[in-house]
Amino acid sequence: MKPSTSQKTKSVANMELVYDLPALRSIIAKWKHAGASIAFVPTMGNLHDGHLSLLERASTMADHTIVSIFVNPIQFGLGEDYQRYTSTLDEDAEKLTANGLDMLFVPNLEQLYPSGIDADTRVTVPELSNILCGKFRPGHFSGVTTVVTKLLINTQPDIALFGEKDYQQLLIIRRMVTDLCLPVEIVGMPIVREADGLAMSSRNAYLNPQERSKASMIYKALQAAAERLRRNPEDIPAIESEAALSLDSVGFRAEYFSIRRLDDLAEPRPGDRRFSILVAAWLGSARLIDNIKVELNE
Ligand code: PAJ
Repeated sequence: MKPSTSQKTKSVANMELVYDLPALRSIIAKWKHAGASIAFVPTMGNLHDGHLSLLERASTMADHTIVSIFVNPIQFGLGEDYQRYTSTLDEDAEKLTANGLDMLFVPNLEQLYPSGIDADTRVTVPELSNILCGKFRPGHFSGVTTVVTKLLINTQPDIALFGEKDYQQLLIIRRMVTDLCLPVEIVGMPIVREADGLAMSSRNAYLNPQERSKASMIYKALQAAAERLRRNPEDIPAIESEAALSLDSVGFRAEYFSIRRLDDLAEPRPGDRRFSILVAAWLGSARLIDNIKVELNE
């Protein structure tokens, strides 16, 4: 479903397939003129049920829903999987049409990076972008916030939906929207999991069958840590280090296993009762991330 050079939009069933910014803006202007509300779900494609849960919720919250598919090069570091992040545009478009989507926006690099991807104009949320995943993927979150800003400015949605699967990303985007005074409501959506508990992710496709059968241990480690945290909230450092070691001992390479405050991902302080436990670990050539919320009762 590659666009020809002259092609700007195309209708597939009732879905508008839009390839460039002028076409996007003109449809949005029509919707706005009619007083319709807009929900937006940005993605990098390779769609699974986690992505589709965002779309499903979006369509109950607004008159029109837009999904974007764009594999954003500036959020991938050197040596990361940008080159092998496969495009499944035809399958994705089919799933989206079947789900009654109004518009699929598929911009190309030149549309979103008119001065090239090495241009200096960047949107960066300080501090939050440098911890946890940001520590291991320098520049990653600045790449995310830059592209999401461009997409929000052009799609002009009333609401935009993001998954809690990427919990740090969700908090960074909330902070960016607050700091840039963007008139959009950010909605966080629960993690959709496979039957064995593994969080759905496009990157699960990198796992071979043996790795795949092991992969849900990452969620089991989070559940065990959550249980321990409920019983002994003062044991945080031991819970973190033992969970990381237990993952390493079964063949993962844990980058971090960290218990943080739920609302700002800062290190917990005495008396805190709302936590997020977050993990990033390599299994073979797949970097898996997951998290779980823990709220202690009074
Ligand atoms: P991508 O990984 O394609 O994810 C798109 C959206 O789907 C994100 O908000 C992500 O949190 C959500 N998502 C992914 N897996 C999920 C799951 N198992 N359950 C619930 N939601 C899930 O995240 C990105 O793309 C990019 O960084 C992007 C925001 C599009 C910017 O390039």
